[in-house]
Amino acid sequence: MTPIKSWTEEGVTIDFHPEIYERLQRKDEDLSEFLQLLKAFTAELAKNKDLYNINPYHSSFNKGMYILGKEDSELGIFPNQKLALKCSQGKLGAENLRKQFYRTIQLAQDFETKLTREEKNLLQICPVYLYFQTRQANSFFKQVLIMPRVAEGMTLGQTQTGFSAEFCKVFKIPSIEKIRRKRQFALHRYLDKSKRRQLLKIQTVYLFKRLLRKGIKICSLNQKNVLVDQILETGQAKYIIIDPIEDLFPPLSPLYNALTMTLCT
Ligand SMILES: Nc1ncnc2c1ncn2[C@@H]1O[C@H](COP(=O)(O)OP(=O)(O)O)[C@@H](O)[C@H]1O
Ligand SMILES: [Mg+2]
Repeated sequence: MTPIKSWTEEGVTIDFHPEIYERLQRKDEDLSEFLQLLKAFTAELAKNKDLYNINPYHSSFNKGMYILGKEDSELGIFPNQKLALKCSQGKLGAENLRKQFYRTIQLAQDFETKLTREEKNLLQICPVYLYFQTRQANSFFKQVLIMPRVAEGMTLGQTQTGFSAEFCKVFKIPSIEKIRRKRQFALHRYLDKSKRRQLLKIQTVYLFKRLLRKGIKICSLNQKNVLVDQILETGQAKYIIIDPIEDLFPPLSPLYNALTMTLCT
């Protein structure tokens, strides 16, 4: 694969996905010019961060992490105009978006080579377009990760029935109903007041285990990090994995996945 293009000027670094860098080159735009556009774009986002917020969970805010949705008419180099931007104030202990950028590109490669055509059609990792980091004191956001926005943004955890029948078949994952009847999960169900949430969590562990068998390891995989994308014409559901980097503290999902996986037979 073409290497990632990284470019630094005045304390600002931009890492481009190779395809996005190619698109920028085709536009024949100067990198410094593009940087000015990008700075203006993110400054505007920071000013109106409440307006653009698309994150239904509040836990991220106190880590200085914002998920913002914005239509792009200014930058003009992305294959999708509807953008989701993960923006960080760079607080201590917050996840590193640069790590997420590189890990995602590697995972996209893994998905490409390790999944079958049928599997790839139903499961994707949310692509990343570029990563931008600044040390300038007057910038509210110190790190920004730009990706396409998944239309509804609904997570697997918000669905009633979990993965579609088609998905369960292709990935050999039991349905929610089957998991409800499995005896080895009696303790899980007993300990969690929210039974449905627990069933969805277990179902994602099955996916975690299937992917691990294929050599794809996503420790942070949980029902909140899988988005549902409905294809309008066919009604088919596809699933998009976001956020493939585990929280350092507390690393709950990796722990839960490792322990529960042993029961997923
Ligand atoms: N690309 C995206 N498209 C649509 N919604 C998104 C996207 N990325 C994140 N979101 C929304 O923001 C939420 C939190 O995103 P996530 O990356 O998991 O952040 P956190 O690090 O806080 O867990 C998601 O559950 C989803 O609702
Ligand atoms: Mg998450």
